[in-house]
Amino acid sequence: MLEDNSQAGVYIKDLLFKYPQNEPVLRGISLKINPGERVALLGPTGTGKSTFMETLVGLKQPLSGEIWIQGILLEQKTLIQVRRQVGFCFQNPDDQLFMPTILEDITFGPLNYDLSPEIATEIAENLLVQFGLEKYANRSIYELSGGQKRLAALAAVLALKPEILILDEPTNGLDPLWRRNLAKILLQLPVKIILIASHDLNWVSKVTQRALILQAGKIQVDASTQNIIQDSSTLEYYGLPIDY
Ligand SMILES: Nc1ncnc2c1ncn2[C@@H]1O[C@H](COP(=O)(O)OP(=O)(O)OP(=O)(O)O)[C@@H](O)[C@H]1O
Ligand SMILES: [Mg+2]
Repeated sequence: MLEDNSQAGVYIKDLLFKYPQNEPVLRGISLKINPGERVALLGPTGTGKSTFMETLVGLKQPLSGEIWIQGILLEQKTLIQVRRQVGFCFQNPDDQLFMPTILEDITFGPLNYDLSPEIATEIAENLLVQFGLEKYANRSIYELSGGQKRLAALAAVLALKPEILILDEPTNGLDPLWRRNLAKILLQLPVKIILIASHDLNWVSKVTQRALILQAGKIQVDASTQNIIQDSSTLEYYGLPIDY
């Protein structure tokens, strides 16, 4: 399969991960996500969606297996290069935001990538408007609601204009209007790949075409999102009852 590795996209081979003293969480995941694909990662609570996503951006070290991002093998020496390609939004926005104000959180990435303060501020101001946060630019995350923190964290990730976007439960804490707005924003982005972990099946079916069900450490189902969300017996079987 060596010829695959040089291709664009995300290519994962035999990924194994375990936390110390625990049973393995990821028990051999192999997967190819091609440029242009928007993919949902589904699975009941505690099945390893966040763990999987964090291994993809080098935040967690797998026991074995390979992760190729845009033809680059993820390893210690390529970590910075890989992170430049991938925008990752944590399940918990408190893990994302760490600057005194959200304006600084959003400009942090662009400044780190050597953009001028003027350009970084312009990018941040546009995102603050897009996410309805312009009034809160100078607030710390401790002065924001849960949904506002989520939007600020998403803005901070989008400020880097990543080629690949990995979002861990991005609609958590958002009201229906913002869930709809976020879907529109994601559908208009010029990113090459989006991978979204979500329990919000209806929402995720609007923004992805392909869905994976992670259970017992493996990808058990890989099919079109529409087919999966209409297949209530498969959803029930994997512990994902719809409309409850
Ligand atoms: N730091 C840790 N140390 C040990 N075990 C952990 C740690 N973090 C998570 N786990 C365990 O690993 C498993 C997978 O957790 P993970 O957070 O990846 O699940 P998830 O699918 O994202 O769940 P959710 O839908 O609740 O977000 C769970 O059983 C969890 O208890
Ligand atoms: Mg999770």
